[in-house]
Amino acid sequence: MTRHFLRDDDISPAEQAEILDLALELKRDRFAVQPLAGPKTVAVIFDKSSTRTRVSFAVGIADLGGSPLIISTASSQLGGKETAADTARVLERQVAAIVWRTYGQAGLEEMALGTTVPVVNALSDDFHPCQLLADLLTIREHRGDLAGQTLTFLGDGACNMAQSYLLAGATAGMHVRIASPAGYTPAAQVVADAEAIAAQTGGSVTLYTDPAEAVTGVDVVITDTWVSMGKEEEKATRLGSLGGYRVDADLMGLAKADAHFMHCLPADRGYEVTADVIDGPQSIIWDEAENRLHAQKALLVWLLARNAR
Ligand code: CP
Ligand code: NVA
Repeated sequence: MTRHFLRDDDISPAEQAEILDLALELKRDRFAVQPLAGPKTVAVIFDKSSTRTRVSFAVGIADLGGSPLIISTASSQLGGKETAADTARVLERQVAAIVWRTYGQAGLEEMALGTTVPVVNALSDDFHPCQLLADLLTIREHRGDLAGQTLTFLGDGACNMAQSYLLAGATAGMHVRIASPAGYTPAAQVVADAEAIAAQTGGSVTLYTDPAEAVTGVDVVITDTWVSMGKEEEKATRLGSLGGYRVDADLMGLAKADAHFMHCLPADRGYEVTADVIDGPQSIIWDEAENRLHAQKALLVWLLARNAR
């Protein structure tokens, strides 16, 4: 069975730790392993805009000895004349892996079912698991062992980042808090899945509506845009509904004195976070962005090794 990475819980706690260990090794020695030497090609497909994901996969695949093939869906047949399953069958004969940023999770599942090469979710409406590998790596570097740490995600609790924090944080044995207003809570099934994982790892999952209560005493405070890609038409409503969840210095002051602030970027300063926080001393956003490179390289190395067995 081909291993794919479509959601954060596609890997076990031990596997997540193994990938993060490897990411740290690759960060220390960037060209240590080259499983894509040849070069082998990895297709990286975008239905939505991207800066970090595009650059980090392109650079990372080249670091591993491979050749990135960046495809914009708008100029391909995928999603127009051709299904994900048919595209997958065409690609698998020529590429070592498929990385895809898309809308629905169902498309990724269809792609994965249709191919023998690993499929990686580079962001969907529901999850952003590659970002979470980078975020966990960053927390580990700045704060040490992940298990037992408490983090709070504020804002749109139904967005891909919040839902990935639930699954990946629980996998790492962390205490995950989500603070969001009614109508912006994570999907009940994702919460249930995260709770089941947390029961095994010693982590926990708690939903809040009060942002102050949610951040009190925590290690890491996280937010994300209030208007995710694909939600632009809801912008005015969202800014109104989420206005009370802005991360500012007063809110940060309720977390631990040495707490860190994280944001996957791109950010809307003045909306979900004030400039003094995101650009201040507690913010580790640039390490977080760099770690996309190291974490995704580790993921690719790990997936390619698994699937070669
Ligand atoms: N964080 C992130 O995925 O950024 P991009 O949208 O620029 O890829
Ligand atoms: N939640 C954001 C993440 C961007 C990297 C979005 O989906 O637009």
